[in-house]
Amino acid sequence: MSRVFRVPVAPARSGGARRYDTTERPSAEPTPARAGIVAGVLSPHPPHLIYAENPPQNEPRSTGGWEVLRWAYERLRKRIREVHRPDVLIVHAPHWITMVGHHVNCVPNPRGVSVEPIFPHLFRYSYDFRTDVELGEAIADEATDLGLVTRKLHDPRVRVDYATIGALHLVNPAWDIPVVSLSANNNPYFYSEASLEEMEVLGEATRRAVERTGRRAVLLASNSLSHLHWHEEPELPEDMEREHPYNNHQYRWDMKLLEAIRRGPTAPLRELITEHIEATASETKAGSLTWMLAAMGWPQVPGDVMGYGTIIGTGNAVVEWTPEGGHRG
Ligand SMILES: [Fe+2]
Repeated sequence: MSRVFRVPVAPARSGGARRYDTTERPSAEPTPARAGIVAGVLSPHPPHLIYAENPPQNEPRSTGGWEVLRWAYERLRKRIREVHRPDVLIVHAPHWITMVGHHVNCVPNPRGVSVEPIFPHLFRYSYDFRTDVELGEAIADEATDLGLVTRKLHDPRVRVDYATIGALHLVNPAWDIPVVSLSANNNPYFYSEASLEEMEVLGEATRRAVERTGRRAVLLASNSLSHLHWHEEPELPEDMEREHPYNNHQYRWDMKLLEAIRRGPTAPLRELITEHIEATASETKAGSLTWMLAAMGWPQVPGDVMGYGTIIGTGNAVVEWTPEGGHRG
């Protein structure tokens, strides 16, 4: 199976041979002195959170709901604006599914309407954002050098999936920070023996590309936690009387994972994430969380759990990690 998704490493292209132009940045902001990955965020994307917020980009209207998670995102937005001040947001999302290999969106200005196929009455979102094409191409090149099957997406007709749009909106609704978006290779869903090993490699490729291009990057892992959910919706979708964990088993496992995150360091999470996936059908099976922590080098720090809540029974947490030596506002 692995040969389908991995190719032999081409040693001639690894190491310091590749050079990127770091003089032309898509961001108009002056770049702070310290480049690299300055934070990683577990940033779940359920469309309900955006529906509940009533932003102008989303067509359906609501009366609110899921406030505690939305308040967590508000605090995160402030940190990103005032403390991290990134050049770029790099997002890995489970609903841009690629059957073979990893794809990187290299379209300079994706525009369109993103619709959640199961909840179109909650999420019909008009998006228009800028891609950091140079960094996107650098990530694809580094991933190829490390042996991953990788493609650069250049088709301007791309319809961006709601997990990418959801996380990006919730973290930065102003859309004034350039983006790189990565697909989720689907093999963990089809091969029970598949591990998250590839995500470690994609994380390493991401880190190399960020450092080589001199970007200041915040990484977004667009994943929910426990992922069993209701199959009937209340008449009022945001009826909070109906919102609670799918069952206590799912909730306890989410707490087990979050307690380990809060305790730190991150290395024990490698195994615990896999156990949590098996116990709860966690959406982290798509690999976003593993990719992000691997890109950060599995830092020796606790994560800051900024909020937890359920959405149609699934577990969702907003969590921020800063690298060793980083600080929070
Ligand atoms: Fe999802």
